[in-house]
Amino acid sequence: MMHPEILLPTLIAHRGYSSAAPENTLAAVKAAHDAGTQWVELDVQLLGDGTAVIWHDKDVSRCSDGQGDISRLSWAQVCQLDVGEWFDDAFRGERMASLTSMLALVNTLGMSVNIELKIHKGRDGEALVDQVIPSLMSALAPERLIVSSFNMQALQRCRHHANAQELALGMLFRALPADWQSQCETIDAYSVHCHWPRLKRHHVKAVCDAGYPLLCYTVNDPSAFQPYWAWGVTSAFTDDPATLRRYLNSQQD
Ligand code: G3P
Ligand code: MG
Repeated sequence: MMHPEILLPTLIAHRGYSSAAPENTLAAVKAAHDAGTQWVELDVQLLGDGTAVIWHDKDVSRCSDGQGDISRLSWAQVCQLDVGEWFDDAFRGERMASLTSMLALVNTLGMSVNIELKIHKGRDGEALVDQVIPSLMSALAPERLIVSSFNMQALQRCRHHANAQELALGMLFRALPADWQSQCETIDAYSVHCHWPRLKRHHVKAVCDAGYPLLCYTVNDPSAFQPYWAWGVTSAFTDDPATLRRYLNSQQD
């Protein structure tokens, strides 16, 4: 199957520029853009009323002034939450981003996005896929979109959507399993996304030799990660793209 011609960057801002602004918010994406980052990674989930929102955790307690499970809250309820003040007073008043408002911002800024389908235990991955894939594909050109997940069934379901043969899918792994390649082939993955501290050199070589771009999360220790570039890693998700960029530039001097 043909994949889109994606220009993968060295750095991807993880949950937006999440060391400079509250993660997964419009503010974090604007901060990434201001720092010169073209790609952001964002997590998507469904609220109880079916609204797709940009959010990482199962509940809202860590990153808002409220409480409750995402899958039990409505859009009207999450609009009451302050999702910025926990991070810094400067972000007081920040609201949870819907997928719709986030895609509008990404388009306005001309950015590209890796959307992670965040399916917590016991959640309905099918409903999430069916809700978000049509929105993503109508909002963004295939060259500016990667959809990833730890959940194989969800990625498989993505391919059932109209025109989704050309959608770039990223297979996420915490540790690279022995059957990683057959999993990737099953969904016709475009890329492999791994938790880097558990990756050995031979893993990186195997993924690269098989022709898959290898994206590593979450790289906040630039010097510890340095060998991975030489081994062939394509891109790094980082909470702090400015620091990682400075480090990489300093290595070239
Ligand atoms: O998509 C890479 C990374 O975001 C996966 O882990 O928990 O940060 O969503 P997490
Ligand atoms: Mg994520």
